[in-house]
Amino acid sequence: MKRRVIGVVSGKGGVGKTTVALNLAASLAIQGKRVVLIDTNVGTSHLGISLGMKQPPITLNKLLSSGGSRVVEAAEEYIENMYVIPSDVPSTSFKWENLSKLGEVIRKIDTVISPDYIILDAAPGIGVEARATIVNSDELLFVATPDVPSVADVIRIKELAFKKKHAYVGIVLNMVRGKKWEVKVEHIERVTGLPVIQIIPFDKAVLKSLAKTLPVVVAYPHSKAGKAFRGLASKLSGEPMVSYTPVLGITGYLKRLWIDIFG
Ligand SMILES: Nc1ncnc2c1ncn2[C@@H]1O[C@H](COP(=O)(O)OP(=O)(O)OP(=O)(O)O)[C@@H](O)[C@H]1O
Ligand SMILES: [Mg+2]
Repeated sequence: MKRRVIGVVSGKGGVGKTTVALNLAASLAIQGKRVVLIDTNVGTSHLGISLGMKQPPITLNKLLSSGGSRVVEAAEEYIENMYVIPSDVPSTSFKWENLSKLGEVIRKIDTVISPDYIILDAAPGIGVEARATIVNSDELLFVATPDVPSVADVIRIKELAFKKKHAYVGIVLNMVRGKKWEVKVEHIERVTGLPVIQIIPFDKAVLKSLAKTLPVVVAYPHSKAGKAFRGLASKLSGEPMVSYTPVLGITGYLKRLWIDIFG
């Protein structure tokens, strides 16, 4: 199978890209796929923080400045089959022009890790980071919430990406509460010309899992959101939904926990 680079994008901020990217990556890894999850939101990175990675040894920022030569050290196996490449938390010294090397870093990852999927957690909007993510993705997964500004921004990003001729995976409609004022799925599909491939409910299990610095599919796999994220992965891979307690890599989460507790 050819590896797929999926950019998780949105025009509007805060709609759930990081949550979708993280839980999609974890669900695919639980299915047994090799997955690399990269935080391409270098300006306001949240992925590492969301996973409790306080001081990741190597980040995307460093890989971009070294042309990917330190991928092996950077790729921390967070859970079995899932490698995470966070971005630096302080972003002030980042050289934005280095984003042009993202393709080079992805090729290096292909060689070193041979993933089935590379998931890119994009910055919101249409700035330099979002463009770098879009240019380097084969497929785009749009995240939106069921309100007019968020849906309008799907159209903006789709127009921006049009020239690259991506395969558009579709829209993940997130934080759905089932209220009558929410924009309806049929309307979203009609105005964007994209299918809504998964609805993720607003679920406090997502917030509880964030507090535990775990993906909801790991912390609460049977919650409503947990099931919906596993369903999304299943639709993308074409394989049945699975749920089991993943083996946390000793070099990853457990090691950090160990350091936190025992210093
Ligand atoms: N389905 C959900 N139910 C409840 N809370 C959610 C859900 N999805 C996301 N959230 C919460 O909403 C907030 C924003 O989510 P997230 O950080 O994933 O958005 P984002 O699009 O990546 O933001 P940014 O544009 O800043 O990168 C987080 O606190 C997250 O835990
Ligand atoms: Mg984010």
